[in-house]
Amino acid sequence: PRTVVRGADGALRVADLSVQELAREYGTPAYVLDEDDLRARARDFRDAFGDADVYYAGKAFLCRAVVRMIAEEGLLLDVCTGGELATALAAGMDPARIAFHGNNKSVAELTRALDAGVGRIVLDSFTEIDRLTALARERGVRPGVLVRVTVGVEAHTHEFIATAHEDQKFGFSLAGGAALAAALRVLDDDVLDLRGLHSHIGSQIFDTSGFEVSARRVLGLQAQIRDARGVELPELDLGGGFGIAYTTQDDPSSPHELAKRMRRIVESECAAERLAVPRLSIEPGRAIVGPAVFTLYEVGTVKDVDGLRTYVSVDGGMSDNIRTALYDASYSATLANRASAAEPLLARVVGKHCESGDIVVKDEFLPADVQPGDLVAVPGTGAYCRSMASNYNHVPRPPVVAVRAGRARLIVRRETEEDLLTLDVG
Ligand code: LLP
Repeated sequence: PRTVVRGADGALRVADLSVQELAREYGTPAYVLDEDDLRARARDFRDAFGDADVYYAGKAFLCRAVVRMIAEEGLLLDVCTGGELATALAAGMDPARIAFHGNNKSVAELTRALDAGVGRIVLDSFTEIDRLTALARERGVRPGVLVRVTVGVEAHTHEFIATAHEDQKFGFSLAGGAALAAALRVLDDDVLDLRGLHSHIGSQIFDTSGFEVSARRVLGLQAQIRDARGVELPELDLGGGFGIAYTTQDDPSSPHELAKRMRRIVESECAAERLAVPRLSIEPGRAIVGPAVFTLYEVGTVKDVDGLRTYVSVDGGMSDNIRTALYDASYSATLANRASAAEPLLARVVGKHCESGDIVVKDEFLPADVQPGDLVAVPGTGAYCRSMASNYNHVPRPPVVAVRAGRARLIVRRETEEDLLTLDVG
């Protein structure tokens, strides 16, 4: 986060608070959210994209306090389950500023979205078109919808988080004609209010040419729809997926660069197809919350394995950050509670779980005198860490502590063993 500095004692400080104080007050592991940093990232996107709508993708990390932060910074919100929708509504998010995603929204979830007056529902299958059409007809309402298009772009990211190649579960295929058929069905039924097309090509993407190709293809479909029905859809959502720097090797584009490129390609493509430029929207999640958080751990054991490497075990692990094990993701780690002049040591930061894949940071140089009781900070854990956390090995999930201008406040409390036992009713 932007407000992290080393204090005079060599320890990390964030928003003018020492990590030792935070660890004493809230325990470890803990996710520390730099509120000014998150707000600044939200504002950067909003300013860069001007009159486009910026939806924060809540799947990256969602709780009521964060909903309020992004709403105060002028963002809208993308949710993809009834649970995320419930959190958004509980935080007082204006339903008209919520978009509802998902490839298998249940009747109950769609009903709740209609009753709440959610602004956009993103259609993902013919089953869903029929389901939502029936529900809207019954209620006499006309929800705004987008048709999610699978544009066939091979995004260069991990296979599990790429979403626009043909052989996967999301959206309507462009090449196969399903996307055109879906849009025409919605227009012809005229029960749902088709506002535009949607494309999301994947996550943690650095090569922006993928967004350009997808914009071009989706606008080609937009022109086909106009030619078939004489209707120009007023909106276009190009999804999220903007990569962030987990290590010094990653070099992400700024929101301003992204906005400039997207606008340029949309304008030139619209000119070529003789289309009016639609109102754009995007859905960044990771790029807003990811860099704003670090996880603070305490070191429990340090083990040198036959001169191969040193295993530094911390008091969390794959239950609070599954990304290293699941996607082979790269993170870095820093000794947080003090400076050290000891020589650097090739270390692997591992958790406390009962499997050898329980790795937080695969390779990192830590000072050779790292010892039990030290604090280690792992930056960049705001996105898809707390939101994908589990209770594996019955480890309670860590809290989220928001810090700002010398003040800390708990926004998600630590789970307790009692919380776990509450669910165990046998
Ligand atoms: N819009 C849609 C339709 C999405 O499916 C996603 C992410 C986003 C926006 C936001 O993407 P972002 O800007 O955060 O990259 N668990 C994986 C990432 C899964 C992303 C799922 N969809 C990870 O930890 O890398």
